[in-house]
Amino acid sequence: MTPINEVIINKKTDINPVWIMRQAGRYLPEFREIRKKNSDFIKLCLNENLASEITLQPLKRFDLDAAIIFSDILMLPYGLNQKVEFKKNFGPILGDFKLDEASRLDEIDFVQKIYPIYKAIKFINNSSLTNNKSTIGFVGAPWTLLVYMINKQSPKLNLKKDFFKDNFLINRILSLLDKFLKIHIKNQIDNGAEVIQIFDSWAGLLDEKDLPNYVYIPTLELVNYTKSLNVPVICFPRNIKNYKNFCEIVDPDVICIDYEINPKQVIKEIKIPIQGGLDPKTLLTDKENLKKEATKYLDIFKNHPYIFNLGHGVLPETDPNMMDYLIKLVKDY
Ligand code: CP3
Repeated sequence: MTPINEVIINKKTDINPVWIMRQAGRYLPEFREIRKKNSDFIKLCLNENLASEITLQPLKRFDLDAAIIFSDILMLPYGLNQKVEFKKNFGPILGDFKLDEASRLDEIDFVQKIYPIYKAIKFINNSSLTNNKSTIGFVGAPWTLLVYMINKQSPKLNLKKDFFKDNFLINRILSLLDKFLKIHIKNQIDNGAEVIQIFDSWAGLLDEKDLPNYVYIPTLELVNYTKSLNVPVICFPRNIKNYKNFCEIVDPDVICIDYEINPKQVIKEIKIPIQGGLDPKTLLTDKENLKKEATKYLDIFKNHPYIFNLGHGVLPETDPNMMDYLIKLVKDY
């Protein structure tokens, strides 16, 4: 069993497996080298050879316990025929979501459009570099995808005032997302994903009263579906604040925490395996501070099943030497 599964399934506490959100990406010079020659990000995600290579890049450098497939949560709206582009120094820009067109798509149309993702998962899962490591597949949570599909760009701090105005459209999108996210999860698993992480990056934008409709209920549906396929599921409802409620209602196999939440409070309230927490900005400081902060998390979760990770994705300006130092520190703890 891989170290990550030992923690998730056997609740082992004496090992500290580690992987890093956004480990395959912009802070690595070897990624930037490939990216320079491939200006279309979507095409890059759909190039199974390059996507596999990028996925394996961090595993060649660091002693990580998982490979997370190089892809994006926005491949889902792309698969539903919404235009998705990535603008330099700005982020994603989406076209209008065409409900009629998307409603006519069937499973075969969708899978055909993003098929290389599954081929890449199969390839990396068979690579010797992933021996005794977990292959992690992922999806965006319905709420976070809805935000991108309606807002058509990252919402920064707030949603537009009229975000909720078209209730019919929102409900139709949520129901399409439920259908196609399950298809996407199933295909990732059939091709070798051994763990699924659900990224809900914008969960923190909602008022408490809206969480059941947009976060708890649609996420629970996907968690139960993934569990029914006998694959563990990690949820990351970023900035949700009340992780205890989330865990009681949604009950994932692992909860991934952000860096705003106090880990000492989390350890008191949550019984299931925990992942993450360390502020990615700590990697931009110095080794002494990095050691102090990383050790804080390792100490607090010493007697709890814990997967080391950051409290959000690694920042592009991170020095790979600091990452190397961090991974070794966790492994030597
Ligand atoms: O973790 C990994 O290394 C696997 C690949 C991965 C990417 N995006 C590659 C990527 C994963 C798991 C994601 C998840 C993702 N994508 C999320 C959830 C996690 C989070 O960070 O909150 C979100 C919200 C997105 C949407 C997205 N994709 C944005 C907002 C951006 C632009 C800004 C940014 O964060 O980079 C992307 C582009 C993107 N996705 C890049 C990478 C490596 C950068 C592409 C480039 O080189 O320009």
